[in-house]
Amino acid sequence: MAQIIGGLGTSHVPSIGVALDRGLHDTPDWKPFFDGYEAGKQWMRDAKPDVAVVIFNDHGNSFFLDRVPTFAVGVAETYKPVDEGWGPRAIPDFQGAEDLSWHLVDKLVERHFDPLVCREIEVDHGLQVPMELFFGRPDAWPVKVVPIWVNTIQYPIPTPQRCWDMGRVLREAIESWPGDERVVILGTGGLSHQLQGARAGFINREADLAWLDGIATDPEHYRNMTREDYVEQFGSEGAELIMWLVMRGAMDAKVNLIHKHYHAPASMTGAGMVVLENAG
Ligand code: DHB
Ligand code: FE
Repeated sequence: MAQIIGGLGTSHVPSIGVALDRGLHDTPDWKPFFDGYEAGKQWMRDAKPDVAVVIFNDHGNSFFLDRVPTFAVGVAETYKPVDEGWGPRAIPDFQGAEDLSWHLVDKLVERHFDPLVCREIEVDHGLQVPMELFFGRPDAWPVKVVPIWVNTIQYPIPTPQRCWDMGRVLREAIESWPGDERVVILGTGGLSHQLQGARAGFINREADLAWLDGIATDPEHYRNMTREDYVEQFGSEGAELIMWLVMRGAMDAKVNLIHKHYHAPASMTGAGMVVLENAG
């Protein structure tokens, strides 16, 4: 059976990709941010996964507000990085894990999740940036991907509990796949930020730091919070953090927090990551 060898959570702020494109990696503004990811990159090199299941949201690039699926799963052979307006980026296309994707879709439907199924779609910074943060800038990505989109853009967004439940089904689906793939699951988005309205620029360091530990040790707390709690504590766009619960729901109740990093501000956000392994 395929196995989940790690759960990772990370920010996906688009300016991280722009900083890499412009060679700003070692500038005083960015160096402390990128340095903190070295441990995560090394973990990934050692773990040698075959597939990354990436949980992220689209930001009006592949879905616009005229049609917003609550959940969507990619089943394509390849995914191009979408051009978000600055021209094509010098990163390779992403190879899909097509057969595993179809299996995940089948299991999700069997367990009463009914995602939009995407045979042809491009992926935005929500997937591009986490891949770059953990795999660097290779000529070809060392893993295949299963992209899973969660609506965190247009209300009503799914509940934290629903995201968690989806993670549990994904785990069951991955572990019932007859292949021997080593799978990492990436929950992306956050941490605290608000890009609009009266609280534009809002960052909550205290809540972010509590999150990075609590997602490992006390996920029930975050699973039981309401969507409104997320907006209040993390900002309207910081509510993207519900996507980390899909990852966490796919892990054991007890996990080891192997690496964590926090840096604020990165763009207009509190930014960070965790690497989790099942304790059992
Ligand atoms: C920004 C965009 C994002 O999708 C995000 O998660 C954080 C920040 C931004 O435009 O700064
Ligand atoms: Fe985002």
